[in-house]
Amino acid sequence: MDEINLYELIGEEGFERLIAAFYRQVPNDDILGDMYPRDDLADAEERLRDFLVGRFGGPQRYIERRGHPRLRARHIPFCIDRTARDRWMALMDKAFSEAALPAEAEGFLREFLSQMATFMINHE
Ligand code: HEM
Repeated sequence: MDEINLYELIGEEGFERLIAAFYRQVPNDDILGDMYPRDDLADAEERLRDFLVGRFGGPQRYIERRGHPRLRARHIPFCIDRTARDRWMALMDKAFSEAALPAEAEGFLREFLSQMATFMINHE
């Protein structure tokens, strides 16, 4: 499956379902809850969703609003060790179960996010 097909397959709505299900869990999480801006969670949700939509063939809203993603650099202010990375993926796994995307879309996206999450680790 190529990246354009992913956006065609699940559309804005698929990304929205997945990322909303992820962010619903964030405030109550004992590791991630304090890392994310509590009073700006709706905007944070929009940033991640728009990044993925643009990355996989949809409208380029993220780049228009935020510029080049530079994701590893943008994550440096947060202490991301293996435990935080694994928790982030655990929340995403639950979000995948809730969002019930088509299996091939889920497999592709899960692999991408898992690799990117490992790349974001910036502390032992
Ligand atoms: C490994 C665990 C990760 C942790 C603990 C983490 C944590 C955070 C936090 C605390 C923010 C700030 C929230 C905001 O104000 O937007 C953020 C932003 C963001 N994260 Fe992550 N993140 C992780 C992995 C990822 C991955 C795998 C991706 C994408 C593939 C990603 C994409 C983004 C994007 C697009 C933003 C918004 C950046 C901006 O424009 O300022 N993150 N992340």
